[in-house]
Amino acid sequence: MKFSVYVRRNGRVSSAAVGERVKNIRSGAGARAVAASVLVAVEADPAGRGPELLARELTAARVNDPRERALATELVYGVLRQLRRLDYTLAPLVRQGLERLEPVARTLLRIGAYQILMLDRIPAPIAVSATQDAARQIGAGRITGLLNGVLRKVAAQRERLPSGAGPGDVGVRASMPDWIVGELVRAYGDAAEAEALALRDRAATTVRPTLGKGGAEACAAGLAAEGFATAPGPHGTLIVTGPGDPFATKTFAAGHFVPQDPASLAVVDLLGDVAGRRVADLCAGRGLKATALADRGAEVVALDVSAAKLEELRALAAQLGVADRVTTRVADLAEAPPDIGTFDFVLVDAPCTGLGTLRRHPEIAWRRRPEDLASLVALQDRLMANAAPLVAPGGVLVWAVCSFARAEGAPAVPSGLVEEAALDLRPSAGLDAFQARRLRRGPPS
Ligand SMILES: C[S@@+](CC[C@H](N)C(=O)[O-])C[C@H]1O[C@@H](n2cnc3c(N)ncnc32)[C@H](O)[C@@H]1O
Repeated sequence: MKFSVYVRRNGRVSSAAVGERVKNIRSGAGARAVAASVLVAVEADPAGRGPELLARELTAARVNDPRERALATELVYGVLRQLRRLDYTLAPLVRQGLERLEPVARTLLRIGAYQILMLDRIPAPIAVSATQDAARQIGAGRITGLLNGVLRKVAAQRERLPSGAGPGDVGVRASMPDWIVGELVRAYGDAAEAEALALRDRAATTVRPTLGKGGAEACAAGLAAEGFATAPGPHGTLIVTGPGDPFATKTFAAGHFVPQDPASLAVVDLLGDVAGRRVADLCAGRGLKATALADRGAEVVALDVSAAKLEELRALAAQLGVADRVTTRVADLAEAPPDIGTFDFVLVDAPCTGLGTLRRHPEIAWRRRPEDLASLVALQDRLMANAAPLVAPGGVLVWAVCSFARAEGAPAVPSGLVEEAALDLRPSAGLDAFQARRLRRGPPS
């Protein structure tokens, strides 16, 4: 398939080699050069985290103008979102084959085509010449002829998308691999394409105000004083708009909010009233849900297999003023039930494909492979089996995954637990796609 040039055919390269590929970025390079450098690195090593790479390259190139920074961000995320659509247009126009081009040429063609086809504000001739300039800035002046020839054809013919109903055509229109379209059809039936397109939307900036620091009111007032507008969002979130980065504000540094999707808070809500109760968060990661629980008054025991993530969790808890209600412990839940006693509330926010978060992490569509699903489901079943003994009689276990894949949302229910509620959150509602289940252990007879 045409898009499979992305990631699959190039294989993975070491981080040293990634550094090699991006070393040409220099102070003074523009938004398009920065975007190209980031996208080449993500293609070479899809496990690389796009946002961190983007921040690093913007700093290395000393791109300080907010408009240039915004354009670089738009190009990186736009190309990652629309990759298959862009390649569908580009492939027939590249005589030697899009997949045979060197990565930097393929990437700059995508960046050029994205500007021409999907951004109204950049006239095509400017898009072509600025993309050629970017090639020169990253030491790829040799490909300016290719860029000129192909991009002028893109501008002349525009985009002609396929109109069929099969997964291949839907996959081009929604810019997703066929196997992900198949999972969307399994999950949403006739609504699959609408949900796929919603996953390709840009997510709003939603934040969770810290209740212990004055909640939404104090958070909104702080952000307003720094030039940002807020509006109430679902599940207690605030939607933030305004020029600039709300996470570079004093209000953020003072712990008044964290970035969080409303769907993630819907999972926290599913636990019920946790104030004053002990909660075991067994896959706590960097602690977005653990700190939400502590902010609601719970005493949280946070476990994760990653010590580094738990260190970030502790720093976040301190920033939000809830450190005294969170203890952490490194534990591998796949091995055995952790020896921490029993709890009235247990949360398993399981490692999963992350397919439900494509609005914020578009590279996941190209990084994940169909075989990941089976291995993650096997791991998830082990985690559920080892979490169950921690649920006290009458207690609640909430299971969640940020994925719409049906196999991930239907863990085997351990004996003694009974399902009493379920969530199936859809992207068309403006949320990350989460599935969650609330299970309860019957009281002792
Ligand atoms: C979906 S993330 C958790 C996100 C987190 N709950 C939050 O809201 O910020 C899943 C977490 O499971 C952890 N994990 C993966 N395998 C694990 C295992 N075998 N035992 C414990 N944690 C594991 C990962 O390190 C990751 O932090």
